[in-house]
Amino acid sequence: MNELLIRQIESFIEEDMIASLSNISACIMMNYDDLNWAGFYLVKNGELLLGPFQGKPACVHIPFDKGVCGKTYREKKTQRVDDVLRIQDHIACDSDSRSELCVPILINEECVAEIDLDSPSFSRFTEKEEKEMIQVAKLLSEAWIKYQWPN
Ligand code: SME
Repeated sequence: MNELLIRQIESFIEEDMIASLSNISACIMMNYDDLNWAGFYLVKNGELLLGPFQGKPACVHIPFDKGVCGKTYREKKTQRVDDVLRIQDHIACDSDSRSELCVPILINEECVAEIDLDSPSFSRFTEKEEKEMIQVAKLLSEAWIKYQWPN
């Protein structure tokens, strides 16, 4: 686990959700190589709504029954996909994407948001990075409660 990266990400957490998530998406994009998208989807009004991100413009609305992000919501479990082209209902926001890491942010076992990372390379994401993003999701879950996000 890259503790330094985790501490750096933690330092970007502050009272405002948009400011925090914006800086964290930039921080992930700068520290992980070979990404084409790094950002957040927020659970709002019965769907996943695009949050702060770095990368090309992306799908604004994702239903819970669609894509890797929808599966992450339904199963409340991290999805590390080595080849998105093999996922039938994968939503290609950027046609360059080949692998994906999607991590739920959970509060009392409810998914409130997701961290989503895309890479133009197959099998880009490691177990170590999966653990790092799960750690970031935990920090964000604590901030969610502490600062009463999304308000
Ligand atoms: N690929 C995701 C959609 C989000 S974009 O990658 C930013 C999915 O299949 O749910």
